[in-house]
Amino acid sequence: MSEQELIDIARRLVADGKGLLAMDESNPTCNKRFAKAGIPQTEEARRAYRELLMTTPGLGECISGAILYDETIRQHKGDGTSFVQVLTDAGVIPGIKVDLGAKNLAGHPGEKVTEGLDGLRARLHDYFQMGARFAKWRAVIGLDDGMPSRGCIAANAQALARYAALCQEAGLVPVVEPEVLMDGNHVLERCREVTEDVLLAVFDALRTQGVMLEAMILKPNMVLPGLGCPHQDSVDEVADATVRCLLRTVPAAVAGIAFLSGGQASELASARLNAMNLRRNSQDARAPWPLVFSFARAIQQPALEIWHGEAAHVAAAQQAVYHRASCNRAALHGEYRAAMEHA
Ligand code: 13P
Repeated sequence: MSEQELIDIARRLVADGKGLLAMDESNPTCNKRFAKAGIPQTEEARRAYRELLMTTPGLGECISGAILYDETIRQHKGDGTSFVQVLTDAGVIPGIKVDLGAKNLAGHPGEKVTEGLDGLRARLHDYFQMGARFAKWRAVIGLDDGMPSRGCIAANAQALARYAALCQEAGLVPVVEPEVLMDGNHVLERCREVTEDVLLAVFDALRTQGVMLEAMILKPNMVLPGLGCPHQDSVDEVADATVRCLLRTVPAAVAGIAFLSGGQASELASARLNAMNLRRNSQDARAPWPLVFSFARAIQQPALEIWHGEAAHVAAAQQAVYHRASCNRAALHGEYRAAMEHA
């Protein structure tokens, strides 16, 4: 894979007013969501659910790439077609989550570091052979008194940069995801301050490791007040704070920015993304990168509840997937309206 080919894939992932579908929940996370929705937690149920998502009619109109989990990339549709082939036929680039999860960070009670660097070169090689063309690694940064620590930020930034360099060596576009969590009572300003610190540390580490910014995607959190904060800022205030934070920290060379949803309500995530793109498209905007989505819950959650593990509900659940994906596509053009939810 040449440098130019990698850059082309990164650009395709954020082009044409499309975004990413994250469907890479690990088995424990997927099972937790299934249990909450009253769905059996079996390999077959996970396979059937992923088949539902990726065979949604019209998915490729809104979705440029889908992030899979290790179990999923090896699975097949009921008719025997591999999932990688199903996505490719739908015009969707297959991607793969390659981190092995956030584990307790030694010496830093309450904080996490994402593991998975050992043996990663060989795993990336295998995923490339299976057809993956991009990858994802998520770091988790929690907010609390005295948190995040410098140690937590530095360890996670270093791991993200090592992962990204290995991906580019293997011919995979890295999606670099440092997630500052929404949990807590903090105000928006505190999230902005921490997100800025984290992004500066991440780009410093990426530079140190020689990562080609043109061939990577940043997957950040939006700048938000904590879920438990009594003052919830408006859609416009969130959009302003997020864009300002990114302008201060993300080099213009980065191919694109694809937000995670992080547990926001689906409609709110679309509205906030829309407000950011309205700013980006306005005359005085300076944001140099496409601002797209890489949502899991904010696309899937309504569909999961409708499906409920029953074959008879597949078509209705797919309509819900398509609806959320198309609302988010509209948001990339600044054309999302609350009325679309009740059309
Ligand atoms: P959410 O959109 O549900 O936050 O998931 C995105 C993701 O990929 C988490 O790693």
